[in-house]
Amino acid sequence: MKKVVMPLLLTAILCIIPYIGVQYAGLGYLFAVVIPCASLVILVAGFLVRLVIWLIRPVPFRIPTTCGQEKSLDWIKQDKLESPYHFWEAAARVMGEVLLFRSLFRNTKAELYAGPKLAYGSTKWLWLAGMTFHWSLLIIVIRHSKFFFSTVPPIADLLDNMDRFFDVTLPAFYMTDALVLAAISILVIRRLRDPKLRLISLPTDFFPLFLILAIALAGMSMRYVTKINVLPVHDQILTLMDYSFILSGEIGVLFYVHLFLVCVLAIYFPFSKLMHAGGIFLSPTRNLCNNSRAKRHSNPWNPDMKFKSYTEYENDYRDKMKKAGLPVEKE
Ligand code: HEM
Repeated sequence: MKKVVMPLLLTAILCIIPYIGVQYAGLGYLFAVVIPCASLVILVAGFLVRLVIWLIRPVPFRIPTTCGQEKSLDWIKQDKLESPYHFWEAAARVMGEVLLFRSLFRNTKAELYAGPKLAYGSTKWLWLAGMTFHWSLLIIVIRHSKFFFSTVPPIADLLDNMDRFFDVTLPAFYMTDALVLAAISILVIRRLRDPKLRLISLPTDFFPLFLILAIALAGMSMRYVTKINVLPVHDQILTLMDYSFILSGEIGVLFYVHLFLVCVLAIYFPFSKLMHAGGIFLSPTRNLCNNSRAKRHSNPWNPDMKFKSYTEYENDYRDKMKKAGLPVEKE
């Protein structure tokens, strides 16, 4: 239970820090300018450093996981996606993972029943919750781009209009808000309900979920409950993007809570499992072409060895071989 309570408590403390800091200690500048700028630097630098570390690791052998016929003789049909041979086939496979979570879709759960009997069951709901969570977050983040430009980007406008499809409340309710809450709840409950999963889950599995939940709840409270004026927020961001590090106006304290939690997420990102967002592109089991039969892949750190052909070997040892009664090719 400690591994759930601790991250929950930490998230609650993180919500209180900016509240006290801004409301009672007058630290608006720290929370609106210093921490956001510092967290952005840490996120970008940390993300790049980790990607570079992964990129420079040698991958001497082909280790793609394959699930179909590899490229072979002309009359045997290759499965281009499951056993990619060309770069673009491997790229399509990686994009299938990134956009559709293909491996997770095929994920099966093994359960031991009385007998003993091993049964494999499909867990499509996990795939659905994962997809809903990631896609909703992406749409919410793209929708936020309206705060970072003086005119709303067309993509943000389009997503905004699609998302407020059920335009019956004021302000209009976004479908993705409800979906992200539902998906996070399912992902947390899933870790708590299954005893095996509960055992292997760590506080670091719960913390990002709680943090993102808190970010979403603070955002929704701003939009639907306190109905903050977004113009000062827009002004503040444009001022910062103009390299003018000043406080531009009064913004409700809930915004500082929302922003601080986003900053914590940004700082936490490069050091956590959230780096799977970048790592998925560099996963050798997914991004390598299965072309070992057609192309020789030599290990770059093998010592530079001089090999002898059989003819050279026989030339060197012919006399000794004959004496020992061994057959030779050339007398
Ligand atoms: C991981 C990043 C972020 C997430 C997941 C997130 C999430 C959310 C959510 C779920 C809402 C509720 C309304 C909606 O869906 O648009 C919201 C509202 C809001 N967020 Fe964020 N947010 C993030 C980053 C930011 C940042 C960086 C800022 C500003 C610097 C910001 C400013 C706001 C504001 C002003 C609102 C109220 C919008 C309104 O009243 O329409 N958010 N956020």
